[in-house]
Parts: sequence; structure tokens; C-alpha cells
Amino acid sequence: MNALYKDAAWQKSMQLKLDFNGMMKQFVGEHGLDPDELNKNKEMYDAAAASMAAKRAQMKWRELPYNQAEVVGRIKKLASKINKEYEAFVVLGIGGSALGPIAVQQALSHLRYNDLPKEKRGGPRFYVEDNIDPERMASLLDVIDVEKTIFNVITKSGGTSETMSQLLYITRLLKDKLGDGWTKHVIATTDEHKGNLIKIAKANGLETFFVPDGVGGRFSELCPVGLIAAAVCGIDIEELLEGAKYMDTLCSAAEPGKNPAYMAAALEVMAMQKGCNVGVIMPYADSLKYIADWYAQLWAESLGKKTDNSGNIVHTGQTPVKALGVTDQHSQVQLYTEGPFDKVITFIAVDRYRNDVTIPHSFDDIADVAFLSGHSFNELIKSEQLATEYAVTRSGHMNKTITLPEVNPFTIGELLCMFELQTAFAGELLNINAFDQPGVEEGKNATYAMLGKRGYDEKRAELKAAPAKMSEYIV
Ligand code: PA5
Repeated sequence: MNALYKDAAWQKSMQLKLDFNGMMKQFVGEHGLDPDELNKNKEMYDAAAASMAAKRAQMKWRELPYNQAEVVGRIKKLASKINKEYEAFVVLGIGGSALGPIAVQQALSHLRYNDLPKEKRGGPRFYVEDNIDPERMASLLDVIDVEKTIFNVITKSGGTSETMSQLLYITRLLKDKLGDGWTKHVIATTDEHKGNLIKIAKANGLETFFVPDGVGGRFSELCPVGLIAAAVCGIDIEELLEGAKYMDTLCSAAEPGKNPAYMAAALEVMAMQKGCNVGVIMPYADSLKYIADWYAQLWAESLGKKTDNSGNIVHTGQTPVKALGVTDQHSQVQLYTEGPFDKVITFIAVDRYRNDVTIPHSFDDIADVAFLSGHSFNELIKSEQLATEYAVTRSGHMNKTITLPEVNPFTIGELLCMFELQTAFAGELLNINAFDQPGVEEGKNATYAMLGKRGYDEKRAELKAAPAKMSEYIV
């Protein structure tokens, strides 16, 4: 554990940096932003910042770094018990109830965590089951022993079909093997008052954690939804929350020029107004690969909206695309340098990786290979990130870079908080509700209707009345 994370000088040394030179006309030419555009929108930024301040009390996810001392204590105790008693920890959840736990664990645990022997892992093996592919569920059972596994079922609404199906399946298995003892193998994380999971949890005396009111799925990583999984895997959740607090404070400034989250949002919205309907997120670190997945949901589900706050049809949003540096330099970067000017590329860079790997001498007689020897993987990945940033800029495509001094719980807390604030501020700039998801609900309701859930007769009738598919369009 890092003893320094509350030290002001250390915190400052861990501050994320947003570099948006690559968004500006001076660097990318005609497809970039004019410096005047930044100033000309001042009124719009002021209004959005005022609205963020006014809505702060409703945005309960902003309080998570400040108000969880008690629950953090409970989670830490539970994590150490789980560590002693179980070989595997499985999250059952989907969307906002899964992507955060995956992202943070991948960022902060050993990259091959599950393959390590127990004494090197710092926690039980970790799985997140965020799909209902039958092959995946069957394969999970080939690698875990349910009698030595604890399942954290996470659903804010307490009724999502995918998660409830998984719960039904797992509890049946547990009941068959352990009888009443099954309840020791299931933790419920859900809304305190609403939904079916809380009823099941109460009726069966399950260990239960709450997703606080006003904390929606994709904004819930820093509450028990994400904190339990992180603590179980040995991650310092207090440092994670401290990083989020640091960023939240930094982002209390109203002017985008002093607020990295607001600036990032303003840049994306200006780019959207210029027709950039695609936002690529490209971390240069395997540890951050699933942060890109988490961000993609946050950005897509929050901003992809049909109507604005005044009821106008706007069909707004920006399609997030995930890429991984350097891997996707060899698959997507051709498009980013020579393709249409319809995207913003956000690189996530890391200054200091957690390992140093030097490239040794081995084939000194072949000059075109030997030039690599003596350098390091660290130098190589950094050079490739800078070279790609240069190539994208030179080709006139807008880009920006967020740099983490290191990947640690503090900087990941900062990054999560920054992206959440960026998304909320973009929602204000676009005058939409960034916190609902009517499009997702529509799919959920159609599934309920298809599977015969009570109260969905009307939806069932609507589905029946939908035009039948035409065979001539199927080859
Ligand atoms: O962000 C959201 O609200 C959604 O992605 C939800 O997290 C997702 O649909 C799962 O919902 P629930 O946690 O209610 O099962």
C-alpha cells in the first residue's frame, strides 16, 4: 500500500495532464479548432458550469469520494474474509454493473492476475460475467469450483434479465450442492428499496451493499459496485477514492481553461459541431484497455439521445471507438491518418510504466534489427505513442492526449472522475439528460415481453404487430 497518497506534493506529482494542441488549427490545419472558437463559446460554458453547480446535489456520484468511510471499512473487512475463505470471486452483472469492476481490476492488478499462484495474487481468482452466452456460463463452471467461490450479483434496478438469469442459475447450483449454505456464497449489490434483488437478499439474509440513490449504473464504479471487486483483488480503494477526490476538487473551477474535464467536454462538443461523430479512445497501456470499454459505455449511453431537455428531436451523441496502442496502430491507425475527418482521437499516455524491460543484444550482425538492442520496451512504446500522435496531427486529424504519470489507484481514481465529469458537462453543453437511458430500457422491455414477463402484454402485442421480415432480403 502506498503511504504517500495523502501527501499534497505527491498528489500534485500524480496530476493527470490534458494536452489538446492536436485539436487546434495551428497544428492540424483547416479541420482543427480556431482559438477564437474557444473564447466565443464562453457564455455557453458559463451556463453549463452554472447548471453543473446547481445540479451537484442531484449528481450523487460526485459525493462518493467523500461520503463512504463506513462502507469502505465494511468492504475491507469483507474482502479480507473472502480472501481467506474463497478461491474465486465472480461478479454477475452487466453494463454499468460490470464494466467498472473489469476496468479497475485490469488497470490495477497484475496483468495476468488469474494465472498467478494464490500467494502472488493478493486475492481470489476474479471473473466478471457480463454476458449470457450459454457457452460462457458453461465454461466458467469448468474453471471454478462453486463450493469455493463467492458471487457478487450486482444490479441497481434489481431486475435486469441477464443478471437475474445468472443469479437463478448459480443459486440453483449452490442450493443443490450446499442446501441452505448457499447464502454464504452470494453477495447482493443493489438499490436499497427498489427491485427484486433486494427482496431476495432480505428474504435470504444475504450480505448486501447498496448502490446509493442518484448513482446510475455507468456512474457507479466508485460505490460498492466497483469497490468490493477492487478490494477483493487487493487494490487500495481508499487511494482510488482519494484520486477521485483530487480530480473532483481540480474540476470545481468553472472555466474550461482551468478544468480538464470541462475542457475535454468542450473540445469534443465543438468537434461534434464540426461533424466529428466518432470519438476514438486509445490508451497506450494494456492495463488501461478496459478503461476504454468503460469510457465507451459512459460516453455512448450518456450522450446518445433522441431528444434534448426541451423536447426537441436532436439525435445527438458521438460514437466511441476503442483502440489499444500500440496494437491497433497495425489495424486502425491507417484509417485515423488517411480516412475521413469525422473523428477525434484521444490518446491516453503513461509516463512511467510499472516495469522496465530492456531489449537485449542478440543479432548484432543484422543492423536493421540490432538498432533496437539497448533500447527498452518503455522507450519503444513511448516513441510509438508520440510518433502516432505526430502522424495523426500531421495528417490534419484532431487529437488530444491525457497523460497519467503512472498507473496507480490514485491516478485511476482521477481518470474515472475526470471522464464522469467530462460526460456530465458534455451533457449540459448538449442540453440533454446524460443520466437516463431510454434506448436501453426499450430493449430490456422488449426482452421482458418476449419472455412472457407479467405486465408486458402491450409491448408483446406491439412486437407481434411489427412487420414480418421479408425473405427476399435474406440471402
Ligand atoms: O448505465 C446504466 O444505467 C446501464 O448500463 C446499467 O448499468 C445496465 O443496464 C445494468 O443495469 P442494472 O445494474 O440495473 O442491472
